Amino acid sequence: MKILVTGGAGFIGSHLVDRLVREQWGEIVVLDNLFRGKLENLAQHADNAQVRFVNGDIREPAILREHMRGAEIVFHLAAQSNVMGAVTNVEYSFQTNVVGTFNVLSAAKTCGVRRVVFTSSREAYGEAQYLPVDEQHPLLSKNTYGASKLAGEAYARVFYNTFQLETAVLRLANAYGTRDFDRVIPIWLTRALHGLDLVVYGGQQLIDFVWIDHIVEALLRATQADIIGQPINIGSGIGTPILELADRIIRLVGTTAKLDRQPARAVEVAKFTAQVDLMREKLGIAPPADALFALPQMLDYYRAREK
Ligand SMILES: NC(=O)c1ccc[n+]([C@@H]2O[C@H](COP(=O)([O-])OP(=O)(O)OC[C@H]3O[C@@H](n4cnc5c(N)ncnc54)[C@H](O)[C@@H]3O)[C@@H](O)[C@H]2O)c1
Repeated sequence: MKILVTGGAGFIGSHLVDRLVREQWGEIVVLDNLFRGKLENLAQHADNAQVRFVNGDIREPAILREHMRGAEIVFHLAAQSNVMGAVTNVEYSFQTNVVGTFNVLSAAKTCGVRRVVFTSSREAYGEAQYLPVDEQHPLLSKNTYGASKLAGEAYARVFYNTFQLETAVLRLANAYGTRDFDRVIPIWLTRALHGLDLVVYGGQQLIDFVWIDHIVEALLRATQADIIGQPINIGSGIGTPILELADRIIRLVGTTAKLDRQPARAVEVAKFTAQVDLMREKLGIAPPADALFALPQMLDYYRAREK
C-alpha cells in the first residue's frame, strides 16, 4: 500500500511516519516544504527505501498529483500549525491551510485515493460555550487559524458528499510530545531546565493536553473507522489549568523558576476540554487518567537535547 503524509517532517507527522514504518504499512511518501518541519525528525528512516521524502509544497497542485498517484491513504497534516503564526501570517495560513487543503482533496479525487485523514483542530470551535465541548458545539472559530481549519473541514465534507472521496476529520486538542517546539510544554520545560521564569499569558486557560502516541493511534484508526462525515474530537477529555501545568513542570524539574505573568493574548481561546465519547466509541481509544502522564518522558528528552 502507498501512503502519502503531508507535513510528515513535522511534530505529529514524523511520529506518524515512525509508527507506519514500525508496523510496515507499506510505501510512505512524505511531502513537506520544511516550513516548520525538520529533516532530522525523519533521519532514522534515511536508509529505508520504503520512506521517501519530497521537499514539496501543498500550494502546488501538480506536485501533489505527481506524488499522490497510486496512494490509497493520504494523511493530510501539512499546515501553518499554530495560532500565533497564523495570525501574524494570515496570507500564508490561508494559502496553506485553505487552498492547500483544497489542493490535497482535489488531487486525492483525481488520483483515486481511498481516504484522506485530515487534522483539524479544537480551534474550529472558538471560545467554548460549555464544557466539555462535544462535536455538536457551534463552530465559532476565534482566530484565522481556526477559520482556516474550519474551511478545510467544509471542503473535506463536500468532497465526500459530491465526489464520494472518503474524508475523516479529527479535531485535535493540544498535542504534546517529543520533537515539538515553540508551544507551551516544550517552551516551559526548556526554560525551567535553565532556571528561567515561565511566561504565562493570562493564567485562566484550561487546556486539553493529549499525548502524541494517542494522536497517532487516532490517525491510524481513522483510516478504517466508520467516521466519514462525522468530525471527531481527539483529546484527553481533561482540562488542565495552565497554572497547574506550570506548577507540575516546576516541581518535576526541581527549579527555583517563578511565573512571569503577562496579559492574556486576545486571539487565544481561554478554555477547552474535549468531550471524547465519540473517540471512545468510534475509534476505540480510551482517554488517560492523567493527561500529563508523559511529562517525565518529555523532560528526559529536552534534558538530553540541552546537553
Ligand atoms: N500540535 C497540535 O497541538 C495540533 C492541534 C490541533 C491540530 N493540529 C494540526 O495537526 C497537524 C500537524 O501539526 P504539528 O503540530 O505536527 O505541526 P508542525 O508544524 O510540526 O507540522 C506541520 C508540517 O507542515 C509543513 N508545512 C507547512 N506548510 C506547508 C506547505 N505549504 N506545504 C507543505 N508542507 C507544509 C511544515 O513544514 C510542518 O512540517 C497540523 O495540520 C496542525 O494544524 C495540531
